[in-house]
Amino acid sequence: MKISLTKRYRFAASHRLYTPRLSEAENKRVYGKCSNAYGHGHNYVVEVTVTGPVDPETGMIANVGELDPFVQREVIEPFDQRFLNEEVPEFREQVATTENVCREIFRRLKSFPSAKLERVRVEETSKNSFEIEADVGAFDEVRVSRGATTQ
Ligand code: NI
Repeated sequence: MKISLTKRYRFAASHRLYTPRLSEAENKRVYGKCSNAYGHGHNYVVEVTVTGPVDPETGMIANVGELDPFVQREVIEPFDQRFLNEEVPEFREQVATTENVCREIFRRLKSFPSAKLERVRVEETSKNSFEIEADVGAFDEVRVSRGATTQ
């Protein structure tokens, strides 16, 4: 039997879907209006799921009270009210798609010391979401699955 805890967080940020490896016309073709030069914003919703044994003393998965400040420090502070492409160093190297935002959030949270990070799910809009689950037995291997069609 496995028990998990999911907490939901929010941040607002802007991004531009654009890669210098493609021409302007190709960026337009691949990313459409999402490649417009001055970017656009989203109200992102992030769900973080951790698992672990229930402490018989407290009745809780170990130290879940530490999760909020950890997520705040690792993700919300550096992402909220930012232009992701420029202000989060990892997105200078990779396109700030929500797949990559989801992967970066997972990477930043996987060292959470008090429970095992199991899943990160990011809603970019009410119509699409992306999620990463830790693979059993291969903690660093992650799968990205798309929740719904874009736009
Ligand atoms: Ni967007």
